[in-house]
Amino acid sequence: MKNRKRIGILTSGGDCPGLNAVIRAVVSHATLTYNWEVLGISYATQGLLEGKAMALTMHGLDLRGIDPLLSMGGTILGTINKGDTLARASEIIAGYEALELDALIGIGGDGSINILHNLACQGNWNFVAIPKTIDNDVALTERSVGFDTAVNTITDALNRLTFTAASHDRVMIVEVMGRKAGHLALQAGIAGGADVILIPEIPYSIENVCKHLDQLRDRWGRKFAIIVVAEGIEPIKPSFDCSDRELCKPTPDCGIGQYIADQIAHCSTKKIETRVSVLGHIQRGGIPCALDRLVATAFGKAAVDLVAQGQFDQMVAWQNGQVVAVPLQQVILQSPAPVNTESYLVETARALGIYVGELGKDDTIEQFIDDHTNIL
Ligand code: F6P
Repeated sequence: MKNRKRIGILTSGGDCPGLNAVIRAVVSHATLTYNWEVLGISYATQGLLEGKAMALTMHGLDLRGIDPLLSMGGTILGTINKGDTLARASEIIAGYEALELDALIGIGGDGSINILHNLACQGNWNFVAIPKTIDNDVALTERSVGFDTAVNTITDALNRLTFTAASHDRVMIVEVMGRKAGHLALQAGIAGGADVILIPEIPYSIENVCKHLDQLRDRWGRKFAIIVVAEGIEPIKPSFDCSDRELCKPTPDCGIGQYIADQIAHCSTKKIETRVSVLGHIQRGGIPCALDRLVATAFGKAAVDLVAQGQFDQMVAWQNGQVVAVPLQQVILQSPAPVNTESYLVETARALGIYVGELGKDDTIEQFIDDHTNIL
């Protein structure tokens, strides 16, 4: 029998830095301001299925008065990004009811938010979402928790690679995450001084990538280069005849970064030495940067306030430097949100002489792909 309001919190989908800072903010605000009980649900919907939840208190994790959650990477609750959630919806809903929750705060990316929204509709849950993902592709929010730390991690990697590239006159190809969105590649590429940035939203021509590398060498005497490749780009075959050579095809063994490296080696008129770095899950680790802690804290506070005001089926969002509430239905309809190819960031990259692909102002990626019949 409970004698005060009880809310649940869970993290769902791929982890990222800043999740624990959200949990900390939710627990602090819910207990200090509203005197609610907060239950942390383990491993997202898996925890609801198995009834795995723990009471979270402000000082539960204190280490001699030090509160580590603000700076701790990952999620103390655990998370899953797979599962037969919809097939087991009725069991999950029963698990939710057994916890006697008055509301649920779910921290997730666009996939998780969609699933949780569906469950909330079916189970009549009072649900509020908080966006997190290093991909930054949740619609209607300029920032998702975890994105900025990942941008910093990639930028740091690009800085390190620049020195070794320059020492050996090599072209470094750096494959970054982001699924079908190029936010990570674009922002880290600009911040890290990349010469070429390939993102899923803008098709590229390998011939022009090579021309760009030649120009760097001929006009500016730059014998090395940094190329950032988003994992989700379409592998476009070059127009040159490559029948004499087995080019690598993007597979789990040979990623898109290696594919681009092979093409450069094949296409360039100069002898270019390439090396490929796949940054992988390093991008999801590490301690959250200051901006992610700030966004996480502000989102956590805002989500608790939405629960207090009885405003459900909403997601907290960052818009123009403010935290606002947006309807979940709209978020789901518009996610995943790609890079706006006419944004000031794309314009900035081009203005600085970075090659960011071929899309003209009035072109569409569908049209470009139609015109290039040799896409794999
Ligand atoms: O959505 C976050 C993300 O890190 C993507 O950028 C990446 O493609 C994917 O998750 C990797 O997922 P997993 O952790 O299952 O390998």
